[in-house]
Amino acid sequence: MTDTSRTASRLREFGTSIFTVVSALSNRHGAVNLGQGFPDFDGPEPIRRAAAEAVMSGPNQYAPLAGTGRLRHAIADWMSRSRSVDVDAEREVTVTAGATGGLSAVMLGLLEPGDEVVLVEPWYDAYPAAVVMAGGRPTYAAPEAPGYRIDAATLEAAVTPATRALVINSPHNPTGRVLDEAEWDAIERVVLEHDLVLVSDEVYESLVYEGSHRSPIGRPALRDRCIVVSSIGKTFSLTGWKVGWTVAAPALTEAVRASHQFTIFSVATPLQVGAEAALGMPDAYFEEFVDSYRVRRDLLVDGLAAAGLRPSTPQGTYFALADVSSLGVDDDLAFCERMIRELGVAAIPTSPFHHDRRSGPIRFAFCKSEDVIRTALDRLQNVGSILP
Ligand SMILES: Cc1ncc(COP(=O)(O)O)c(C=O)c1O
Repeated sequence: MTDTSRTASRLREFGTSIFTVVSALSNRHGAVNLGQGFPDFDGPEPIRRAAAEAVMSGPNQYAPLAGTGRLRHAIADWMSRSRSVDVDAEREVTVTAGATGGLSAVMLGLLEPGDEVVLVEPWYDAYPAAVVMAGGRPTYAAPEAPGYRIDAATLEAAVTPATRALVINSPHNPTGRVLDEAEWDAIERVVLEHDLVLVSDEVYESLVYEGSHRSPIGRPALRDRCIVVSSIGKTFSLTGWKVGWTVAAPALTEAVRASHQFTIFSVATPLQVGAEAALGMPDAYFEEFVDSYRVRRDLLVDGLAAAGLRPSTPQGTYFALADVSSLGVDDDLAFCERMIRELGVAAIPTSPFHHDRRSGPIRFAFCKSEDVIRTALDRLQNVGSILP
């Protein structure tokens, strides 16, 4: 049992993350782990070499609080290249300890005690804790499964006079959805109507299979109310580096930097050199990246469908949901545990990402080699034996 007697009460409710729980069980049973959302391969060699050379020849001392000037300019160039948005590298970009560090810096820098932040279910698990650690209170908007479309009424239901911010994630983990223009219109209306800050988590920005990534910072009405949070983790298969950033108008960036300076202060300098190389990769890299993920996506989705698991085809990210609730599963966590024990395949239940823990679809990650995905699919051909 975990002894939480010395853990601050505000954190106790969050317990151990479902990813840690599932991975531990998966290791114990030698399961193929399609739960964890990180690649089983490393990012491009030129990027790793740039960081390695920086380790050997420097710079190895503290970077400036906001990030090295060169990386901030590379991020500004990236915003222009990927979103046609002009960004001031000096006043609008902050390099953070991954997107997670960026999200924490945003909440700590922005919230007064008791301020509310609207989170959309199913959420990324760091969001509620980041809000609570900053003294805020999460409230929850719950778009309906299996479509998970966001509309103004769903968001409005979670807004109160104490609401200060709204967090949106597109491409979305775990549903794989990429929000469309009508959804962004609804979000814009709610943000303007209630004078909110929009926190836009865009870590899967480069993994869009149909259409293209839309960032709210490209909308004139949201340009000064939006904080983009992203990182190199997913786009360059370097999740362990934890190099991320925020991009926001100067007043919002001041808030982010105000907290970042006393928590992280600055991010590993040689890895910032590597991140700069990453953002300068040629267009061909990004095309090949999406193509290789599309192959993995189709392999996984076709295999899940063949096993009778009713997957939906994700428009973005490297996750696919299987709608086991429509097959009669009413406890997604227990089902995932059985799948690990009896079939040797790990996936993540989505109930932990809802405030009422309602059982729902389960999430498979396909950021794994094709052989690993095939092995998991072979094992899943027997899934009927554990379905109700
Ligand atoms: C939606 C979402 N946001 C943020 C993160 C964390 O990103 P980073 O590793 O850069 O902190 C993840 C990682 O899985 C994620 O899925």
